[in-house]
Amino acid sequence: MGRAVSVAACALNQWALDFEGNAERILRSISIAKSKGARYRLGPELEICGYGCADHYYESDTLLHSFQVLAKLLESPATQDIICDVGMPLLHRNVRYNCRVIFLNKKILLIRPKISLANAGNYRELRWFTPWNKARHVEEYLLPRVIQEVTGQDTVPFGDAVLATKDTCLGTEICEELWAPNSPHIEMGLDGVEIFTNSSGSHHVLRKAHTRVDLVNSATAKNGGIYILSNQKGCDGDRLYYDGCAMISMNGETVAQGSQFSLDDVEVLVATLDLEDVRSYRAEISSRNLAASKVNPFPRIKVNFTLSCSDDLAVPFCVPIQWRHHSPEEEICKL
Ligand SMILES: *[C@@H]1O[C@H](CO)[C@@H](O)[C@H](O)[C@H]1NC(C)=O
Ligand SMILES: *[C@@H]1O[C@H](CO)[C@@H](O)[C@H](O)[C@H]1NC(C)=O
Repeated sequence: MGRAVSVAACALNQWALDFEGNAERILRSISIAKSKGARYRLGPELEICGYGCADHYYESDTLLHSFQVLAKLLESPATQDIICDVGMPLLHRNVRYNCRVIFLNKKILLIRPKISLANAGNYRELRWFTPWNKARHVEEYLLPRVIQEVTGQDTVPFGDAVLATKDTCLGTEICEELWAPNSPHIEMGLDGVEIFTNSSGSHHVLRKAHTRVDLVNSATAKNGGIYILSNQKGCDGDRLYYDGCAMISMNGETVAQGSQFSLDDVEVLVATLDLEDVRSYRAEISSRNLAASKVNPFPRIKVNFTLSCSDDLAVPFCVPIQWRHHSPEEEICKL
């Protein structure tokens, strides 16, 4: 009992500053995730306001409307009984951060600011955001009234922490952090995190899907674990095209592949996986366990919830699949 976890990764066609449309697509993805039995739903980076808001990130209005959408999501019956992980910009002590807001049953569990910002090529995140530089440190975030009225909370934890549910432990990476040489998933994995989540705003570049799939699979090859990647899809008002490719991977192998060039606004990938597979994979890697015994622990936020359901064995588990890549010619033709 308590070993089959069902998790959802989404690819959404969000638009910069389309708060109403973005909220509708987020809610739709949460409803689909729930209807497919998921207990945790991950959406793309900055999905509430859209990734490509550019200098609109400087406007207080963008932050205010993001909070209004968050209030709407918190209030919605669709978000009951599923851990929702949504992306939005936030101001903490007058500094703008690119954040994940993770909530359950009308309560915010954690706000996780992004640690490694993407600033190469087309990315200019450092222009608008500041990276969170306090590793394994959590502060109190004072909620605005529009959220306090819904959650009944004054402050919530803000910083670099992981979530401990009753059956597993879940840690967040945001986009660029995966590509960084010292990705958070390495130390989080050593510290007992079994599920890694990565919400991405990763645009299409010819053959980039190969690198993405390799990075995600290798993230759990040495250390074991479940890796969930969500992404923006379509255009969002800026000059880039995002190519979706949500994926879920376990112990170094892909178990669920989302589409790369589909025209659906909302795509939800759900996988049911056995936590015991992660534990037994790790048990056999003695070097990992030696390293794990020395790791400096992450702050844990306790969550009174399980990602598994009790009638476990009735659900079929996902098995590894081979990622089907498009040829370069197909990629160009489908774009
Ligand atoms: C998440 O995935 C993206 C690829 O889309 C990658 O650039 C990024 O580094 C990943 N982040 C983490 C924390 O693994
Ligand atoms: C945890 O949740 C269950 C059911 O939702 C509730 O009965 C129990 O009191 C909760 N435990 C704590 C410590 O809050």
